[in-house]
Amino acid sequence: MSRITITGRGEPILINYTEETSLLDAIIGQGIYLSADCAGRGTCGKCKLQLLEGELEITSFDRNKLTEQELEQGYRLACKAYPKKDCIIRLVSGRETDFKIITEHRQESIGYGKADEDYAVAVDIGTTTIAASLVGLESKKIRLTDSAINRQRAYGTDVVSRIKASNDGKRELLRISIQEDLLELIRRILHEAEIPKNRLKRIVIAGNTTMGHLLLGYSCQGLGSYPFTPVNISTLTLPYEEVMGSDYLSIPVTILPGISAYVGEDIVAGLLACDFDQAKNPCLLVDLGTNGEMAVGNKDRILVSSAAAGPAFEGGNISCGVGSIAGAICDIEINKEGNRLQTIADQPPIGICGTGVVALVFELLQSKLSDATGLLCEEYFEQGYPVAADPQGREILFTQKDMREFQMAKAAIRAGIETLVRCHGITFDEIDTVYLAGASAIK
Ligand code: FES
Repeated sequence: MSRITITGRGEPILINYTEETSLLDAIIGQGIYLSADCAGRGTCGKCKLQLLEGELEITSFDRNKLTEQELEQGYRLACKAYPKKDCIIRLVSGRETDFKIITEHRQESIGYGKADEDYAVAVDIGTTTIAASLVGLESKKIRLTDSAINRQRAYGTDVVSRIKASNDGKRELLRISIQEDLLELIRRILHEAEIPKNRLKRIVIAGNTTMGHLLLGYSCQGLGSYPFTPVNISTLTLPYEEVMGSDYLSIPVTILPGISAYVGEDIVAGLLACDFDQAKNPCLLVDLGTNGEMAVGNKDRILVSSAAAGPAFEGGNISCGVGSIAGAICDIEINKEGNRLQTIADQPPIGICGTGVVALVFELLQSKLSDATGLLCEEYFEQGYPVAADPQGREILFTQKDMREFQMAKAAIRAGIETLVRCHGITFDEIDTVYLAGASAIK
């Protein structure tokens, strides 16, 4: 057994480590969040940490994902690190507090209701983030909205990784993780709104089918392979304790119904919020997630579909990609003077989020730095297009591989939409309104 000192997150933390698990699993086991987009396969490079003292072998995965300079400076991938002796490490990858989703609403739905009214909390469990709103039961007004990262991200960024983790024996860990996140978020919302917990009368939850299964502790075996059969996707109302695993509240929790293994309760909620059930003309709803979900229809008929888009629209699998966090490049314009950037919260650039990727691809095409097939011009083919430098002076690049990731994501979504439009028997011109959802960021 060796002793690992973890620094970089406030006070140093000392853990006893045995070589049975990777350093990544040992760190997560301490309740510390670390980005691990590929769920420990060694392919995303997001779990890197820095060795300050001691020894950590350089693996082939390290050589693939890290530069010579980074290796010399002691950077290693946590998921492939198995320290044999005591060491001191510094965490450098994303922390959960970096994530903040935009939680603005139509103005008329926000505000204070009656002073003594009771409340419900409406929750959307996303694969990346969890959003929750405190809603007045009489006034129907949203008193407050807050969000938190879904710390299951430490088991992989996409639903397929979570399904795999669950099927590999981590079902209970995943369940506890989401239960803890929800409890923390609900407590925080009540505290911020200064509402005593006895005035919270109900919780309603939506999410994709996998998130629902993980929260309820269902087996994900049926979700991972053909014919993709969920355990249960009908509406459920259960006691708080049964869903959340805690006795903090004694109120009912309702889980909205899903549609299939890959079209979940969140799409049902989206269709309802966009009034598809009342629309005369066909509308299109697209949720640009890792699992892209889409619906085409109106009050008479709605068709839904999903496509494995990958996380490019959320900044995932992009070499310098980041989520929608402060400093993420969310818009870019290439002109003669160079790159004009917009970052979230006007912070110094740290990476590119989903809308930044979309804008960049458009600009590369417009300025003929890429051809119509997505091939970068010779000058940038090997090293990538230099977008900016981060505060440490490291280049933020957009590579040829990033372009291919984006193209695959876009193609998957496009294929889904085209199939739906064709099956519905309409043309694109007949679509009245397009609703876009997702964690791509802002523009
Ligand atoms: S490279 Fe370690 S989690 Fe992806």
